[in-house]
Amino acid sequence: MKREIKKGIEWVGKVDWEIREFHGAEYSTHRGTSYNSYLVKDKKTVLIDTVWDPFSEEFVENLEKSGDLKEIDYVIANHAEVDHSGSLARLMDRIPDVPVYCTSNGVKSLKGHFHKDWNFVPVKTGETLDLGSKKLMFIEAPMLHWPDSMFCYLTEDNILFPNDAFGQHIATELLYNDLVDQAELYQECIKYYANILTPFSRLVEKKINEFVNLDLPVDMICPSHGVVWRDNPLQIVNKYMEWSKNYQENQISIVYDTMWNGTRKMAESIAEGIESKDKSVRVKLYNISHTDKNDVVTEVFKSKALLLGSPTINRGILSAVAGFLEEIRGLGFKEKKAAAFGTYGWSGESVKMINDGLEKAGFELLSEGLRLLWNPDAGMLDECEQFGKEIASKTES
Ligand code: FEO
Repeated sequence: MKREIKKGIEWVGKVDWEIREFHGAEYSTHRGTSYNSYLVKDKKTVLIDTVWDPFSEEFVENLEKSGDLKEIDYVIANHAEVDHSGSLARLMDRIPDVPVYCTSNGVKSLKGHFHKDWNFVPVKTGETLDLGSKKLMFIEAPMLHWPDSMFCYLTEDNILFPNDAFGQHIATELLYNDLVDQAELYQECIKYYANILTPFSRLVEKKINEFVNLDLPVDMICPSHGVVWRDNPLQIVNKYMEWSKNYQENQISIVYDTMWNGTRKMAESIAEGIESKDKSVRVKLYNISHTDKNDVVTEVFKSKALLLGSPTINRGILSAVAGFLEEIRGLGFKEKKAAAFGTYGWSGESVKMINDGLEKAGFELLSEGLRLLWNPDAGMLDECEQFGKEIASKTES
């Protein structure tokens, strides 16, 4: 299937309605996704990115049936991750001499994935490819989010092709940002940023400033996942700027796991304490073993503080909490506060272990945490409420 998005520019990607796990099982895709590939036809024809390799046969067949395959003069590989480069092997079998434009890191990554010596043309920021009446300008974007990542910009039509940046995992036949449900779109954009781009926020800010300084008009942004931004396309760029600056809302997330409900009761009483002290703050509770971890990461991204709880088990913490600590360590959140809590029966190491994990993850501890022996009674739950009030006081905006 192909869709004309502007005269001479076609979307030739694949909408994947079925996928529910991405990056192995690392990223949940509740709303599916798309792998966007674009064909730009001028005096020369250029294919920008491909689709994930389970769809490579269909992708190449479609290009062949439409007569476009033999017209391709250049291939652009903005990013070597296989959701975008996966069809290159099948494609290049058919058009082996066509040059593949990518960054020098892209050459390494593509060779590392496919072990082929295609006709690579490494490019740098500012270099251009003449298509006849228009040019494609290349903009390296290292670590947004791989070393090889690159954007390209089409002059005359003023279209930015930023690959993963500004994308989101949504399957839709509607194609454009103004046609889809806006709440769903926002949720998928912020989830994508929180879970994928948070570690690279400084680079996001720098790259956006660099792009703004090029003073190029932008009529459309065509990322490699989800919708094409045609209505006020810079809205997503502005959101990225906001999110890249240690973003937080007036929210506290309480994330926990529990064995016999003692730590759950603590979580709920702490929440009551926070709410009684500060009516303006939004408090959300998540049992991490029953909640999608990427959704919880998105809530932590929006939070000014994270309270993390686990009972003690085998001198340690519950495995879902341990996994979550590893998740947030890798993301490297900045300027967020935190505290630990949990019940115990005898050895009672959980709070200290969570404190250590939170500090390693870059959170500022608000207290030594709260640990309670056995199942909390009314008095102990009052202690939890008091703990919540103290957290509210220390985080009041
Ligand atoms: Fe959509 Fe980094 O791949």
